Amino acid sequence: MSSLFEDDPRLAAREPLEEGAVILRAYAAGQAAELVGAAGEISRAAPFRHLVTPGGYTMSVAMTNCGRVGWVSDRSGYRYSPDDPETGKPWPAMPGLFLRLAQNAADEAGFRPYDPDACLINRYQAGSKLGLHQDRDENDQWAPIVSVSLGLPATFVWGGKRRGDPARRIRLESGDVVVWGGPARFIYHGVAPLKDGTHPLTGPARINLTFRKVF
Ligand code: SIN
Ligand code: FE2
Repeated sequence: MSSLFEDDPRLAAREPLEEGAVILRAYAAGQAAELVGAAGEISRAAPFRHLVTPGGYTMSVAMTNCGRVGWVSDRSGYRYSPDDPETGKPWPAMPGLFLRLAQNAADEAGFRPYDPDACLINRYQAGSKLGLHQDRDENDQWAPIVSVSLGLPATFVWGGKRRGDPARRIRLESGDVVVWGGPARFIYHGVAPLKDGTHPLTGPARINLTFRKVF
């Protein structure tokens, strides 16, 4: 059967999750190597570190940031900070490549304009996971989260508006982009423990970029 979008793989690969949320399959696949390279460069100025939650738990995912502000956590709470507490310096600037990708993906999902001021960079290794949570430390409660998967595949857990709602398990591959905002902005989500493996771009790791509009 012929499809309206059969000659446009980008449009054909849209996978709606619910109102305000969509997976853009392989949307960033063509730029994955460059994105991984840029994340590596950022981590040379602002190294990956395992943050401690307010409850005293050390996260299994290693994190760093780029942009005007970065997400940090310690015993006193979660917050966005203009400086990297490890180095005392401002976070590295968001590369143009990152910003354009985030804006184009947001646009594709119906969110325009989009001016993310933060990009959290997560590094998962075998066993790393992110428990079910909402992203709610941002002042802007409508602008989307744009999440870019790079390297090893992961199982993304997509729940509902309440913690106990039924959750779907969705495999995300390198280059997949998930966008959620507006009515889907506070959906609970997480990442199941990463399976052991090796990927040509990232070796034993998965890198995830999440863009946020904080202010
Ligand atoms: C996040 O929820 O901040 C990250 C999601 C992911 O790694 O796919
Ligand atoms: Fe999140």
